[in-house]
Amino acid sequence: MKKIIVANWKMHPRTEKEAVALARASDATSVVICPPFPFIPAVARVLKRAALGAQNAFPGTTGAKTGEVSAGELKSAGVRYVILGHSERRAEGERDAQIAKKITGATAEGLIPILCVGEPASVRAKGFTAAQAYVKKQLLADLSGLAQSSKLKAQNLLIAYEPVWAISTTKNHKDETPEDAARMAQFIKKLLVVSHKSKATVLYGGSVNAKNAASFLARPEFSGALVGGASLNPAEFKKVIKAGASL
Ligand code: PGA
Repeated sequence: MKKIIVANWKMHPRTEKEAVALARASDATSVVICPPFPFIPAVARVLKRAALGAQNAFPGTTGAKTGEVSAGELKSAGVRYVILGHSERRAEGERDAQIAKKITGATAEGLIPILCVGEPASVRAKGFTAAQAYVKKQLLADLSGLAQSSKLKAQNLLIAYEPVWAISTTKNHKDETPEDAARMAQFIKKLLVVSHKSKATVLYGGSVNAKNAASFLARPEFSGALVGGASLNPAEFKKVIKAGASL
């Protein structure tokens, strides 16, 4: 099965012209491109195969919320997916209670949330069981707004397991092993069956690049990858897409 490759451009690139060029070069089936808000309309105009995503969404449609962009507004701009709970937003102070509201808000507007969970280095240093407990707490809190009785359809929610210490190719980090990452994906899947009677679709994120993509994507536990830094380099990103397509 072709894997889903999500491009998280974060706060890149600098201009609309560069964003359009990057979108054209990355346009492929099973790809989701998440540009910064101002570039969404221009990217929407050039994408023929890839789906459009956003990197955040305030719950609801309209309201007195200066500086926020709503799930409804994004939907109207052609967005289908939204990254929520990314560790870089959590580092800016976003809490599980807000993330839970964003998840239910995005779902209500018909967007597919890509919920990011993952433990920081200090937790992982205490061992894998501690990391599982951390991820479990995040997941249960972030999904608390979704009723357990209304079965979550796997295709309506993606969960990205992103160990915080493995994120960002620019940092001198220790790589996560595909084995441990897959163990965490199995744990997430089992948890969702119990908590929400749902099959979970799990992606891996954390410095996925042309070299290591195949080792993560080959694991059946992962339905795809969330790619940051490597998605800004078209040649590199094409290799990641290819690694996901040939499985
Ligand atoms: P990275 O980013 O691939 O640069 O580590 C992934 C992410 O933060 O979503």
